[in-house]
Amino acid sequence: MERLIELDKKHFIHPTTSIQQQQEHGAKLIIEKGDGIYLTDKSGSVFIDAMSSLWNVNVGHGREELAEAAAEQMKQLAFSSAFSTFSHEPAIKLSEKIASLAPEGLNAVFFTSGGSESNDTAIKLVRHYWRIQGKPDRNKVIGLKRGYHGVAAASTSATGIPEFWNMAGNMMTDFRHADTPYENGTDKAIASLRQIIEAEGPETIAAFIAEPIQGAGGVLIPPSNFFQEVRDVCNEYGILLIADEVITGFGRTGKMFGVENWGVIPDLISFAKGVTSGYIPLGGVIVSDHIHEVLKKVNRYPIPRLHI
Ligand SMILES: Cc1ncc(COP(=O)(O)O)c(C=O)c1O
Repeated sequence: MERLIELDKKHFIHPTTSIQQQQEHGAKLIIEKGDGIYLTDKSGSVFIDAMSSLWNVNVGHGREELAEAAAEQMKQLAFSSAFSTFSHEPAIKLSEKIASLAPEGLNAVFFTSGGSESNDTAIKLVRHYWRIQGKPDRNKVIGLKRGYHGVAAASTSATGIPEFWNMAGNMMTDFRHADTPYENGTDKAIASLRQIIEAEGPETIAAFIAEPIQGAGGVLIPPSNFFQEVRDVCNEYGILLIADEVITGFGRTGKMFGVENWGVIPDLISFAKGVTSGYIPLGGVIVSDHIHEVLKKVNRYPIPRLHI
């Protein structure tokens, strides 16, 4: 145990953690195994995994059928590209399955390796969508103050918690943050959103992104009319709505996706975590049929030829 703590200090940089604190306190919990909702640490203490680890182990720990399915696949084929016209059956079947679970009209999936990459991808996709339509100025993305969207470049910038980005300076330009509905209600939050759209110019806004239930910002459930009003404002200004369902997707709120609690259909859904219950890293973005149709109009990407 002592040796593990020393090695942890020496070699392992913990994410979003003060290294000074890590050095001072050492690893307090070295988790060794999980079974259902229980976790056992190196010293044998048993805990209830009340947060499902990082809100991701939706079906609990120790599911043998998942380990067996992964082992079967790994034995058969380690990896296969999906660039260009390459494809493989697991990705085809999973995209069909996810389309069948997603809200109506969202039927095409772009896979990633996790939630941060899903949000970066969603942001690239919305900018791409506008460029295809001759509107390259629709570049800006509005998030919510205290919203959390991950650790990659665009997802950090969309995050509305300054502690996550001020240690590295501005990650990307063209991100704005509206007031949340959690302190002052829907009307003030919507007024703040409108104010940003008007001040920046609606023709410069690509998308609005929000978590159906704010997670890292405080596990906050919005007023029941908030997302419908957001949807209406987005429709009014022609702005795409990205639901960051990285935590709330795949049944966490009792519905398959969090936005379904209010009957709202976003244009894009970013997901990760619950899709594999943390057994392997996977994420993705589900896009609406309309976005899919627009993306189909691009005939050729400027991808350099591979000289092998
Ligand atoms: C709402 C939300 N979006 C995105 C992310 C980033 O996901 P990942 O840690 O898989 O990169 C998280 C992580 O907790 C999250 O809570």
